Amino acid sequence: MAVVPVELEARETEWEFAPDRSIRGFAFNGEVPGPTIEARVGDTIEVHLTNSLPQATTIHWHGVRVPPEMDGTEAVQRPVDPGETFDYRFVVPDAGTFWYHSHTNETEQLERGLYGALIVRGDNEPRFDGERVLLLDDLKLGADGEVAPFGDEHEHHAGREGDVRLVNGEREPELAPAGGTIERWRIVNAANTRFVRLSLGGRSFSIVGTDGGLLAAPVPATEVLITPGERVDLAVGPFNAGEQLEIEALPYDRGKGESARERFATLRVGLAAASQAQLPDTLRRIEPLVAAAAEPTRTISLKALMHEGPHQRAEPVRVGELQVWELVNETGQDHPFHIHGFFFQVLQESGEAPSFLSWKDTLNVPRKGQARIAWLPDDRPGEWMYHCHILEHHAMGMMAHFAVIP
Ligand code: C2O
Ligand code: CU
Repeated sequence: MAVVPVELEARETEWEFAPDRSIRGFAFNGEVPGPTIEARVGDTIEVHLTNSLPQATTIHWHGVRVPPEMDGTEAVQRPVDPGETFDYRFVVPDAGTFWYHSHTNETEQLERGLYGALIVRGDNEPRFDGERVLLLDDLKLGADGEVAPFGDEHEHHAGREGDVRLVNGEREPELAPAGGTIERWRIVNAANTRFVRLSLGGRSFSIVGTDGGLLAAPVPATEVLITPGERVDLAVGPFNAGEQLEIEALPYDRGKGESARERFATLRVGLAAASQAQLPDTLRRIEPLVAAAAEPTRTISLKALMHEGPHQRAEPVRVGELQVWELVNETGQDHPFHIHGFFFQVLQESGEAPSFLSWKDTLNVPRKGQARIAWLPDDRPGEWMYHCHILEHHAMGMMAHFAVIP
């Protein structure tokens, strides 16, 4: 088991998101997204953060089962002031597609680019011809071409969405896989608010992983909804050499009217290459935590969460005591519910069993809908939190801290 040392400097940067178009960004090591951190299960990641920004910051390791004091929230650490440094150190126990992002003044710091991917590989990964890590995002610009000001009333309620659509910090780029090959795409929705109902030119692909790693078996699909904070891993291809497809978000109504069909990138398939990819029928075993009919141990009203404002505290949970939470969304908007530090399984979505079992840390609870989730607090007592991953909702107070107690 290796130690993976990482130097991250958060600083202001000219972020060129399109040819001859740049804005004043905030970035790790001057790049948006920040460097992709790669490790193997069991490795120790050691991040030396230097804050050269004009404002305080912290880093949250979204999806990683870190010790509580490494979680990057205001509950467990003092924000790292300009000119200060902080060392994050943790073991990565699970394989999957994770990401890291600022957890201080997030609405501005993520919009300006303070995020990156964290990839953890396991021993029995399926074999692909190639791999891409794709962080989806958007940017809201003002008339002057700079990042639009933050925090108007509309944004508090509806979230912040911009017209510039980005993949890996670039506006609508071109991707060029080789013809005849199958790639693994690790996709992260890093946008403040934008939902992405992803389509690859209407072609079919397989979902092979979610927030908490591989599924039990590949799931064929022609679209997948990825809400802020969520990840999916897809098996994509093969395509024919010379084909061209649009990678788009299909219309979706998250409670703000149906969005338009929007392009994120173009796929231009290159010359054919030999394929070595092998997607097995079984990817791994996932044991159900509990029967789908399990009665909730707790009900969380997202409406109350939304309206009670910041610094809410929820009841503690005890190490080893199974949690079955009913998330009830009485509001007129969808909310992606994220819990720090733990994975859950979805038992029911608005009364229906989900079509496949997976490990999640972020789940969209549709407007006027509900979801029942189960999770087990493993032996990491401390301060944790959950919140809506629409960052403007989180900032407004749609969150709660809670303790895991021994
Ligand atoms: Cu990615 Cu507190 O969240
Ligand atoms: Cu929300």
